[in-house]
Amino acid sequence: MNVKFDFSGNIALVTGAATGIGKATAIEFAKAGADVIIADFNAEAGKKTSEEVAALGVKSAFYQIDVSDEKAVKAMAAQVLKEWGRIDFLISNAGKGPKHYGLPMTNIPPDDIRDQYNVNVVGYVNMVQAFYDFFKEQKHGKIVCTSSLAALRNSGIHPHYGASKVAILRFMHIVAQELGPYNINVNAIMPGFVYTPIYHEATDFKALMPGRFDDCETSEEVVEKMAKNSAMRRTQTAEDMAYGIMFLCSDAAREISGVELPIDSGACAM
Ligand SMILES: NC(=O)c1ccc[n+]([C@@H]2O[C@H](COP(=O)([O-])OP(=O)(O)OC[C@H]3O[C@@H](n4cnc5c(N)ncnc54)[C@H](O)[C@@H]3O)[C@@H](O)[C@H]2O)c1
Repeated sequence: MNVKFDFSGNIALVTGAATGIGKATAIEFAKAGADVIIADFNAEAGKKTSEEVAALGVKSAFYQIDVSDEKAVKAMAAQVLKEWGRIDFLISNAGKGPKHYGLPMTNIPPDDIRDQYNVNVVGYVNMVQAFYDFFKEQKHGKIVCTSSLAALRNSGIHPHYGASKVAILRFMHIVAQELGPYNINVNAIMPGFVYTPIYHEATDFKALMPGRFDDCETSEEVVEKMAKNSAMRRTQTAEDMAYGIMFLCSDAAREISGVELPIDSGACAM
């Protein structure tokens, strides 16, 4: 793989970095020389990520946080800035999938909608608000959030998840507009299909779409099959998402702001 970034001397804060895409992002940033702050509510896995990051020879620390808790996020940001002095990249990646897939509108439990908005949307707003004045004053920095291909495509199986991933994009546009004059780039990635713990219930799809996934035994196989509906007929890895995020944090992307970057093996083209 010809992927080379140099982020020596930079500090990245990655939320949702205990597992999946966030974890891969933390590790790839560390391989590229950045110090990495891990923020997640999963303390056990989050600490493990932080140890793996530190083992790559950079500085790392873990902060346990529920991104939907505004006060806790503000307190964490203050602590981070006190202990680290600054951050260069805020990667707001923590997210939550639906509890159940494929429910018709009338059966979606309001709690499931609230849960996802609280993490996927309010969590992003909380993180941005907590570092807003700092970035304004620092006059350099990048903010990248993780939206989803579900923001572009109505799969019909998780309308509330898709809606939350659309909402985060509009907030991202607003933040890009407001912080642009202060030399802050604000963007989003839109992952297609990366098999991570977020798909633990993907076998639900079997019941939802009779016949389509009969040959799939596991959630991973279901996701593989869904991903065949992409130009390149494949799923992506968590590292593919990390590379997109790192590109948006690199000087190569210094004039890119307010965009959502699909990383989906061409699913958008279908
Ligand atoms: N995997 C995919 O195919 C895919 C596709 C599109 C978008 N996404 C998005 O990518 C992001 C990462 O998801 P993933 O696939 O790596 O799944 P994941 O479940 O491995 O990662 C989500 C992380 O967020 C953390 N988290 C959840 N709620 C939190 C909260 N309230 N506060 C702090 N941390 C919290 C979890 O502990 C976990 O570490 C999410 O925003 C998700 O919606 C994933």
